[in-house]
Amino acid sequence: MPARLFLSSGDLVADRRFEFARDLQLKGDLAAAADLLLQATELAPGFISAWFTLGEIREQLGEHDAAIAAFRKALIADPEDRHGASLHLILLGAEKLSAMPEAYVRALFDQYAPKFVKALVDDLGCGTGLAAAAFANEVDHFIGVDLSPRMIERARATRLYAELEVADMVQGLRDKPDASADLVLAADAMVYLSDLAPVLREVKRVLVTGGLLAFTVETHGGDGVILGEGLRYAHSAGYVRGSIGDAGLTLARCEDLSARNEDNMPVPGLVVVAVKS
Ligand SMILES: C[S@@+](CC[C@H](N)C(=O)[O-])C[C@H]1O[C@@H](n2cnc3c(N)ncnc32)[C@H](O)[C@@H]1O
Repeated sequence: MPARLFLSSGDLVADRRFEFARDLQLKGDLAAAADLLLQATELAPGFISAWFTLGEIREQLGEHDAAIAAFRKALIADPEDRHGASLHLILLGAEKLSAMPEAYVRALFDQYAPKFVKALVDDLGCGTGLAAAAFANEVDHFIGVDLSPRMIERARATRLYAELEVADMVQGLRDKPDASADLVLAADAMVYLSDLAPVLREVKRVLVTGGLLAFTVETHGGDGVILGEGLRYAHSAGYVRGSIGDAGLTLARCEDLSARNEDNMPVPGLVVVAVKS
């Protein structure tokens, strides 16, 4: 696991209280940890990491309303939401499903980047380039787009990419000319988008006729899109099929296949291929 995000309060005493609170939390003394975090936020009322951690502890203690209150404080203190407090508010039923905060995704993957191993194609959410490596024999011009600067640095080191951009994937596609890509690839990246319509619309525009879109999602047995416990969206098969049709693409394949394990169990997923006909 990467280091946990910590945003200093700027007050040394409050930061020390936070550190003690984290020790207590990890040892399972949640009530004492919560007390210390409250003290830290009294010293530094805008202490984002303390409010966020207090929210997590309240959640662990089953204190639903207090958890919501703490996550809201974290969000007020940090409107760009680097910790992802808004996602916890969604899981707690306090907010409606919405897009993932860009600052949260960027911070998360900037921390992950050092731990990641190892055509004219747009590779969306390219990460360190694992998917690009799998397609390297078939492709002579990869363009990688990713929100995380550190992931882009790692991708650059693979020398697989002709172009790399730090950008949101929809924005990255918007800058590309019409009919300029043979393949658009998004391996384990659409799980960070709640609404697939904007990205699919841009994919349709940048693909050449006969061009392919290939991506993975996590899925669930119900309808529509939900946020999973792992803070990744799960798109139902019906939603994926509908969105592809609405974008004017033709579904070529939609297979039940898991892209990753969580707690040694495969997370239900779909591998999807669509064509611009
Ligand atoms: C699990 S990694 C994918 C790994 C990558 N496809 C590979 O093959 O190495 C998910 C990536 O998606 C990126 N990401 C998430 N949301 C994004 C967005 N809206 N726009 C661009 N990149 C995004 C993250 O920064 C992260 O690098």
